[in-house]
Amino acid sequence: MEQDMQQILFTQDQVAARVQELAAQITRDYAGKTPLVVGVLRGSFIFMADLVRHLDLPLTLDFMAASSYGAGTTSSGLVNIRLDLHDDIAGRDVLLVEDILDTGNTLSKLVAELKGRHPASLKLCVLLDKPERRTRPLEADYVGFTIPDAFVVGCGLDYDQKYRQLPYIGVLKPSVYE
Ligand code: IMP
Repeated sequence: MEQDMQQILFTQDQVAARVQELAAQITRDYAGKTPLVVGVLRGSFIFMADLVRHLDLPLTLDFMAASSYGAGTTSSGLVNIRLDLHDDIAGRDVLLVEDILDTGNTLSKLVAELKGRHPASLKLCVLLDKPERRTRPLEADYVGFTIPDAFVVGCGLDYDQKYRQLPYIGVLKPSVYE
């Protein structure tokens, strides 16, 4: 699979170290609380699994799914909630976990939806942030790495549903999708 990469942006060790730092920060910020950690499927599953194993807090977990890009590398701008939470979030301290904040289309829709359900608080945690591509005024509270405008895969991020399992973050060779 490494032959499909133009560049390895962050190695497995770099990702692990950064996830531990984020978890330490979240553990401090949520001291005394029992957050509800919500993962956005499918991209967040690896990051979320790594993150929660380093959170020294009582917490509960849930998942949502929104529509994705399909086989392309640009957002359609249309977002649908395909899988909703199991439980009511009113009064909960919700931490929404996503693989990447790109244009912000998906997450701004999900954030608006969840805010309407009256959580006690709602924060956003993303492994990657691509601020150059933002079209919505949305910022994450916790960011693993800020990256330039390149299409990346690994650690949950896919191209055409592939490469999610890669333990590093890589930039795909354009020849793979052109
Ligand atoms: P949005 O443009 O912020 O709505 O991004 C929505 C989704 O697009 C993310 O949750 C990812 O699943 C996907 N996405 C955005 N940028 C990348 C990328 O560089 N690689 C793989 N998936 C991406």
